[in-house]
Amino acid sequence: MKKDYEEQIQKLLARMTVEEKIGQLQQCGPSLVGAFDVSFEELLNMMFDGRITQEEFNRLMGTAQQDFHEEDLRAGKIGSYNGIGDSATANRLQKIAVEETRLGIPLLFGYDVIHGFRTVTPIPLAESCAWEPELWERTGRVAAEEATAAGIHMTFAPMVDVAKDARWGRVSEGAGEDVLLNGLYGAAKVRGFQGDDLSRENAMAACLKHFAAYGAVEAGQDYNRVDMSMQRLWEEYMPAYKACVDAGARAVMPAFNDINGVPCTVNSWLMRDVLRERWGFDGLVISDSNAIAECVNHGIAEDKKDAAKQAILAGMDMDMSSNSYISCLKELVESGEVPEQILDEAAADVLRIKFELGLFDDPYQTDEERESHAMLKEESRALAREAAVKSIVLLKNENKVLPLKADAKIGLFGSLASDKEQMTGAWAIGAKPEDCVSILEACRMRGIPFQYSENLTDAEKIAADSDVLVAAIGEMKEESGEAASRADITLSPEHMALIEGLLATGKPVVAVLFNGRPLAIPKLAQKVPAIVEAWHLGVEAGNAVLDVLYGDVNPSGKLTVTFPAAAGQCPMYYAHINTGRPGGKSKFTSKYLDAPVEPLYPFGYGLSYTAYSYGDLEVKKEDEALLVSVSVTNTGDRDGQETAQCYVQDRAAKRVRPVRQLKAFEKVSLKAGETKTVSFRIPFSELCYYDWDMKEVPCEGFLKVYVGGDCQAALTGEICL
Ligand code: GLC
Repeated sequence: MKKDYEEQIQKLLARMTVEEKIGQLQQCGPSLVGAFDVSFEELLNMMFDGRITQEEFNRLMGTAQQDFHEEDLRAGKIGSYNGIGDSATANRLQKIAVEETRLGIPLLFGYDVIHGFRTVTPIPLAESCAWEPELWERTGRVAAEEATAAGIHMTFAPMVDVAKDARWGRVSEGAGEDVLLNGLYGAAKVRGFQGDDLSRENAMAACLKHFAAYGAVEAGQDYNRVDMSMQRLWEEYMPAYKACVDAGARAVMPAFNDINGVPCTVNSWLMRDVLRERWGFDGLVISDSNAIAECVNHGIAEDKKDAAKQAILAGMDMDMSSNSYISCLKELVESGEVPEQILDEAAADVLRIKFELGLFDDPYQTDEERESHAMLKEESRALAREAAVKSIVLLKNENKVLPLKADAKIGLFGSLASDKEQMTGAWAIGAKPEDCVSILEACRMRGIPFQYSENLTDAEKIAADSDVLVAAIGEMKEESGEAASRADITLSPEHMALIEGLLATGKPVVAVLFNGRPLAIPKLAQKVPAIVEAWHLGVEAGNAVLDVLYGDVNPSGKLTVTFPAAAGQCPMYYAHINTGRPGGKSKFTSKYLDAPVEPLYPFGYGLSYTAYSYGDLEVKKEDEALLVSVSVTNTGDRDGQETAQCYVQDRAAKRVRPVRQLKAFEKVSLKAGETKTVSFRIPFSELCYYDWDMKEVPCEGFLKVYVGGDCQAALTGEICL
């Protein structure tokens, strides 16, 4: 039951000056200062555009220290920090806030704890392939245990931006292309981060992001425009954010992008009408980094002052690092352009989350003792390994190359097999590369007979000595995440050359992919007999990969994103509409001349070391819901876990509907030869959609149901609602 702090909030507000209220809305981070008289951002730009050399940049960085703006803090001009990741610094700053400011209002520390803190777990896109909300919650809980021990009160996560374009680098940060999965993933993370009592010292406020539809940036180009129908926005994007609000997330971060021409940062329809009025959200709304000031670039604000005015009137409570509020709001309030009531509401939202986090009662919720004991516990590593193994997707396994025999001698190739740092993936802010287990290290630890080479040097000799060759290829961690869109999502020439060289030896080749997005790998898929999708798996990457390669674990991961055959097919996703001329053999159908109609690997797909069959599909209805049941049989000789998926298609609706939409799934464990009946109950309310006039309409008439192990499931049922 959420406690009501309104009386304390109003009492405190009544004592605050306008400046102190504005100070609560200011989030800043430590800035780098040194023997350079420009900002760190400008220094970076000078290096990028060649105005200074890399050597000069490095020299200047050698003089850099962090400026925590203590004087502004003492003056009550800072309410929150971003980017503080250790308890000593957090407590030092907190002490100034509590003991040296007029009202002693504690600070709120926010940071990007996206997939673990020190115990880095698989990137969200990887972990989503486990199709296991209970796992997602458990890893969220460990992240909160470690991050709060380091002084962090709020994480800028979960990110639940539905992403259908593999060119967008931030596809790595969410749960893929499906809105149901993103919502379940996000809600599980909110529960894991926040626990059942936000005032506890190991509870971390969740800040869902990026609100809204950031994953729909045009052409997969980061920070680009988002323009879509309201029908599409509400059917394919908004439910994921709402699931996080319904799960109790206490903060929301509007997205950098516009929606149909109005940037989310100044979009009152989004922040007030939808978030607060319709969804009843009463938490904190914090901008993305520098986003308020960037409304000038968007062309929606004349200057910083205009941007500040629009943002706070639209419902943005806190300004992350643009200094728009701290520099412009006082004048806006004094002139009456911004009513003080609006300022009070924003300040109240900041005070509320601080009360809910227990910061007024105990501003020092951690110390170095707790921090040192919290990190990288054995059980945390074990959980990271479990999550990593469950995130791995077996894409190809011809002639049962996998699992490897226990005594198999392997030739291990590729820099990614030894590069520990790359295993963490994007946004691993608390990671220490030395904590990560590479494949190379895992081989040593398991006593596997292997030889290693970063490249084709000695490939012939090593291959002659090996039973199988394992090539670690894919993407560096910087090639996905923020500001990492790629126009070409194929493997690098170096990695393809490595594969060709290994294939030339005549020994079987297993490709292990480390990547943060779907890759267009038709050549690899055609040439090598086995492909393991290992994403960026975190601290236990090497052990998890070997667990699967040697069959200690039977892989069960299922793709939550479509793998296209070419970047030119992007955005490519399973829940597409049929069109009047669905792609097929005939020329005059919807397709490309130079690419296949079908994806390379479809949504929901993933192989196992055993096999499964589906049968006895039954589709019935009761007054409020669709009832679907199916039998799933493990037809192979190994125990395994299969994620049975249920898709629905409205065959004749008031607007064209996707050919399939995931409406339910269940991950079942099946012993070799075992059969289980899996049942799904899908409320009719989850089948609604919007008509031309944006009226919500029920799914009615002729409905098709598809059940199986991926979105191309052939087992079909029909029903008339
Ligand atoms: C970044 C990202 C956002 C992150 C924030 C704070 O620009 O867009 O996801 O939480 O800044 O680091």
